[in-house]
Amino acid sequence: MCGIVGFIGHGNVQEVLVNGLEKLEYRGYDSAGIYVAEEKGKGHLFKEVGRIAALKEIVDFELPATVGVGHTRWATHGAASQQNAHPHQSSSTRFSLVHNGVIENYQQLQAEYLSDVVLSSETDTEIVVALIEYFLVTEGLTTKDAFKRTLEVIEGSYALGLVDVENPTVLYAAKNKSPLLIGRGEGFNVIASDAMATIDVTSEYVEIKDKELITLTQDAVIIENFAGETVERSSYVAEIDASDLDKGAYPFYMLKEVDEQPAVLRRLLQNYQGDDQQFAFEADMMKTLLASDRVYIVACGTSYNAGWIGRSLFEKLAKIPTEVHLASEFAYDLPLLSEKPFFVFLTQSGETADSRQALVKVNELNYPSLTITNVKGSTLSREASFTLLLHAGPEIAVASTKAYTAQITLMAMLADALRAAKGFEASFDMERELSLVASIMESILAEKAEIKAWIDANLMETRNAFYIGRTLDYYVSMEAALKLKEISYIQTEAFAAGELKHGTIALIEEGTPVIALVSEETVGAHTRGNVEEVKARGANTIVISMQDVAREGDTFVIPKVETALSPLVMVVVTQLLAYYTALGRGLDVDKPRNLAKSVTVE
Ligand code: AGP
Repeated sequence: MCGIVGFIGHGNVQEVLVNGLEKLEYRGYDSAGIYVAEEKGKGHLFKEVGRIAALKEIVDFELPATVGVGHTRWATHGAASQQNAHPHQSSSTRFSLVHNGVIENYQQLQAEYLSDVVLSSETDTEIVVALIEYFLVTEGLTTKDAFKRTLEVIEGSYALGLVDVENPTVLYAAKNKSPLLIGRGEGFNVIASDAMATIDVTSEYVEIKDKELITLTQDAVIIENFAGETVERSSYVAEIDASDLDKGAYPFYMLKEVDEQPAVLRRLLQNYQGDDQQFAFEADMMKTLLASDRVYIVACGTSYNAGWIGRSLFEKLAKIPTEVHLASEFAYDLPLLSEKPFFVFLTQSGETADSRQALVKVNELNYPSLTITNVKGSTLSREASFTLLLHAGPEIAVASTKAYTAQITLMAMLADALRAAKGFEASFDMERELSLVASIMESILAEKAEIKAWIDANLMETRNAFYIGRTLDYYVSMEAALKLKEISYIQTEAFAAGELKHGTIALIEEGTPVIALVSEETVGAHTRGNVEEVKARGANTIVISMQDVAREGDTFVIPKVETALSPLVMVVVTQLLAYYTALGRGLDVDKPRNLAKSVTVE
């Protein structure tokens, strides 16, 4: 949450900062700002409420700046206002700071050191920049030492970029728990929350570790630990194809990403293909997984919903007992663990603070872990024992789609590899079935007009809606409901169909949309019974079913795939339902209100 970019050296500073912020807008978009300095004592601050487009209108791109920092905000402390937008400045305006994260002890620090300082915002960030100036003045420190002194007293999560207008040949940075990278260039250096932000100026990046102090000039990168020792660290090349960041002819990234799913699935099949008809995974990881007695899947949001399908795959195919946990609950209420647990962290971004907090706990306990992520080199990937990449290409829309199906596909391949390693007979050919899934996804994606027409007639006016299903269909319902609510603002809940009559059916009124998922005969017959019950109470019902269990009158019928993989195709219809509903309501599909893509605060 919140995106940071900083630049020092030759180049159009304002352009790099604003372009970078545009690419980071997925991290937060309620206000944005940049600060640039052209020479000693000559700096300029631009801040605006709303999107980067609004900031762009007020920035002077002609200023001959040599250093600057920029920020796109997802409000944590204080409303989305110009006052609370970053960069924040010390009272003399000597220091300008951007921050991503939450300073937990800011009130205490304010009371202890800053009772005489007049603050102009409600943010925790302003306390940090005020402290830098306070330590510089009261303790006679240099800027670097005052920054370090401040880092030693602040608690919480932060990625920081700092400019001192009295010395505009230096850019300072530091991080703790929140992501931040250094990008190296010829005659310039940058910092960014995500390599994506500055990929058009450099592909060479250097990792920053927690609690390091970074000093950048146009030609040098100095990394020091808090003891003042210099740290040598080599750079790596970020493998981001700048064209992946372009939405091309698509009106929204979400639709592009929904359409990409068959290709992502095929890419995954290719990437994990081994010899002799088996999927290939790192031997060490397989050994550790096979030696474990229970898998604990830990995740948030859409990734958590994918975790439930993973649980079913691990248990049914590989016969490994598996539990699924919400990351935000897990670290603070650890379940009674088995003797040899193995942890799987599902996270598209690899930066989610709740998941990271749970991984920190797992690492403290010295248990093995695997991060399944879309972002190579992300925090959770670096900190887990093993990593598997989703190879889905950048997912930019806040509503996650291709990452969900990629996570399920990867877990299906992993479960199949574990099954084979344990010597269990396969009940179906995973590779062939997954290829079939990719083709069926394509056939569903070709039916967009039909799906849109149904929405126009049924979902445009409603305030609430329900998804129902049993077993796998219930887990898909959880994801379908999240997708519809987060981008259309229709209050949508998922229910295990059998639970309706135990209370929730009281909410059914004349016309309430109830969408039932039916992919399997045994439980599907019961779900259909529940559909009749809500229909009798006035619900406007629709059924999305799989061909072999379809009945006359079903609204959408999907070609048959192996039941264990049915979520991969059922979900596509529900993604399109969500997309066209939000579109029809005239909403910004990619940037729903109050949300951000990468949730880097707990
Ligand atoms: C879903 O559409 C959301 N973007 C959200 O629930 C997301 O899945 C969640 O925040 C977890 O993110 P992660 O996969 O990057 O950890």
